[in-house]
Amino acid sequence: MYRDVSSCNTYNYGDALYWNARYVQEGGSFDWYQRYSALRPFVRKYIPTSSRVLMVGCGNALMSEDMVKDGYEDIVNIDISSVAIDMMKMKYEEIPQLKYLQMDVRDMSFFEDESFDAVIDKGTLDSLMCGTNAPISASQMLGEVSRLLKPRGIYMLITYGDPKARMIHLKWKVYNWKIELYIIARPGFEKPGGCSSSMKSSLEPVPITDDGQLPAEFVLEDPDSHFIYVCKKMNDMDENHIPSYTLKGDIL
Ligand SMILES: C[S@@+](CC[C@H](N)C(=O)[O-])C[C@H]1O[C@@H](n2cnc3c(N)ncnc32)[C@H](O)[C@@H]1O
Repeated sequence: MYRDVSSCNTYNYGDALYWNARYVQEGGSFDWYQRYSALRPFVRKYIPTSSRVLMVGCGNALMSEDMVKDGYEDIVNIDISSVAIDMMKMKYEEIPQLKYLQMDVRDMSFFEDESFDAVIDKGTLDSLMCGTNAPISASQMLGEVSRLLKPRGIYMLITYGDPKARMIHLKWKVYNWKIELYIIARPGFEKPGGCSSSMKSSLEPVPITDDGQLPAEFVLEDPDSHFIYVCKKMNDMDENHIPSYTLKGDIL
């Protein structure tokens, strides 16, 4: 059994009750990990503004609002927390580009197959990885994401999880995803010596090995970097696509 508990603490991030209580207490807005301004180069590179976008586990983040200000026309936001969804529905009732629905990312049967051009996940797979039955939850969620993506659609995962912790969940043959990896420093990170990080602006994917890992000699400038996995849903006929792992019982 594989379970990534490296950055989970005593909170049950996989539990709707935890999130409802947290959103009742906190109100306002909060973006985990990174704001849209830092992610924009990656989002704009892979996701045209005319795309139908699904934001999974939107919480009360400003990310979707910022994307609309940047020209995105159709963003459907889902979250398991009814408290977050009710607040966001009210806040954005005058913004037709933003829709909010209470839904569990592990069962999005409300939506038809291949109905989104892109799915964005900032911290939601991470939350499931901290819950009970984490590997099963992850495969349910990613199976649904794969089902909802149009051919050549993009699943963009923004996470603290490095390739050792995440590729094992992403590289299943059944998803048929071609994966590119980017690494960005956490906000405010300064290199020792006071210079700001060069990692922040790198729009070049990080080289990864055939099994999706960082090369042995690779050193993270910021040990608490964030990772952006850009997963493109391939057709079997797509050129230069090497399919990845077949399903293996031992990681379930
Ligand atoms: C770490 S927060 C990230 C929030 C937001 N994406 C951001 O970037 O600030 C994780 C979010 O995932 C939601 N979540 C957790 N489990 C979920 C599930 N099974 N289905 C849908 N949303 C879930 C939580 O309610 C929470 O809003």
